[in-house]
Amino acid sequence: MKKVLITGGGGYIGSHVAKLFLEKGISVVVLDNFSRGYRQPINILSKIGSIESEEIDLLDPEGIKRVFAKHDIGSVLHFAGLCSVHESVEKPEMYQKNNVEGTRNLLNAMLGADVQNIVFSSTSAVYGETEVLPVIEDQETNPMNPYGLSKRNAEKVIQEYGEKYGFRFVIFRYFNVCGAASDGMIGDSKKPSQHLMQNAVRGAMGIEQFSYTCSKVNTPDGTPIRDYIDVEDLAQAHYLGYGYLQNGGKSDIFNLGNGTGYSVQEIVSEVQRVFGMHIEKKQAEPRMGEHAAMYADASKARHILGFRNNKSLSDSIRSLQKWYAGHPKGYKE
Ligand SMILES: NC(=O)c1ccc[n+]([C@@H]2O[C@H](COP(=O)([O-])OP(=O)(O)OC[C@H]3O[C@@H](n4cnc5c(N)ncnc54)[C@H](O)[C@@H]3O)[C@@H](O)[C@H]2O)c1
Repeated sequence: MKKVLITGGGGYIGSHVAKLFLEKGISVVVLDNFSRGYRQPINILSKIGSIESEEIDLLDPEGIKRVFAKHDIGSVLHFAGLCSVHESVEKPEMYQKNNVEGTRNLLNAMLGADVQNIVFSSTSAVYGETEVLPVIEDQETNPMNPYGLSKRNAEKVIQEYGEKYGFRFVIFRYFNVCGAASDGMIGDSKKPSQHLMQNAVRGAMGIEQFSYTCSKVNTPDGTPIRDYIDVEDLAQAHYLGYGYLQNGGKSDIFNLGNGTGYSVQEIVSEVQRVFGMHIEKKQAEPRMGEHAAMYADASKARHILGFRNNKSLSDSIRSLQKWYAGHPKGYKE
């Protein structure tokens, strides 16, 4: 069976998707420049199956081509990217270059190697702020920050290659990702983590003080409402998307989420409930580029791909507890 190339496989989501593919008996090649991700999960995952790592930057077109020449790759799952809204507001050009040019370089290498299936990690940030909730895939895109714009532009490049060269793609637009591997094997180790639930769990475990970074917005409790998806549910969705393309499915865009928003305050309350304690929090500088509420209608992914949300918020919180208990400081690098 041909190998699957996972770009960004040293990162949070890519490593969890790699784990699932290895458990399914599929050989994985990770392409990552390790600017934000780690080599350690790849070493850990090598206990499950065949996983090889290529330290290449997506801004190095020749390097990407070498990866395709070396490995017999059948499909690509594309996670590599920069993904901090806050940072993108400060460095918009860097986001455009990394996320859009990097995607184009990848597609050109795929074209040269005659690999035409790609599953792409996009984001709900492409929609921007909308009054119509839950958001559906046909809704107009209107990114409100350079991160969202870079991901929408990357989607457009993929769509262009679909039209020009017959590439088939699944684009997943998703929301806030939470949780860790339920066996505690791998987890989130961002430098620094931007994820609310991860940070609240670390606060509850006394690993570091929980910093409250949300801005005051117009919602019932004044904190932003977002859709949350567990990283293992997300990995399943990517496996379904991959299978859909393998079976000749037509190119399409799917939202992933649980269809219900939770406010920041509700997430913190759920972490407190699971741990049976109050979490001390420190008010930090509010993030830039935030809007009030965003959650998705994921019924298209349910009907066409058979996607299901199997994990509850408390499942995600408990998986993080297990991960941080074994790795309080995350990965060692
Ligand atoms: N985490 C979320 O909540 C979330 C939500 C929606 C969409 N996404 C998307 O999912 C993808 C993965 O997110 P994540 O949370 O795992 O992020 P992450 O930062 O943990 O992983 C991204 C990986 O990409 C690598 N990378 C970045 N630029 C690269 C380049 N030029 N060349 C090679 N490798 C490069 C990094 O080193 C890192 O390992 C991103 O594309 C992001 O836009 C994430």
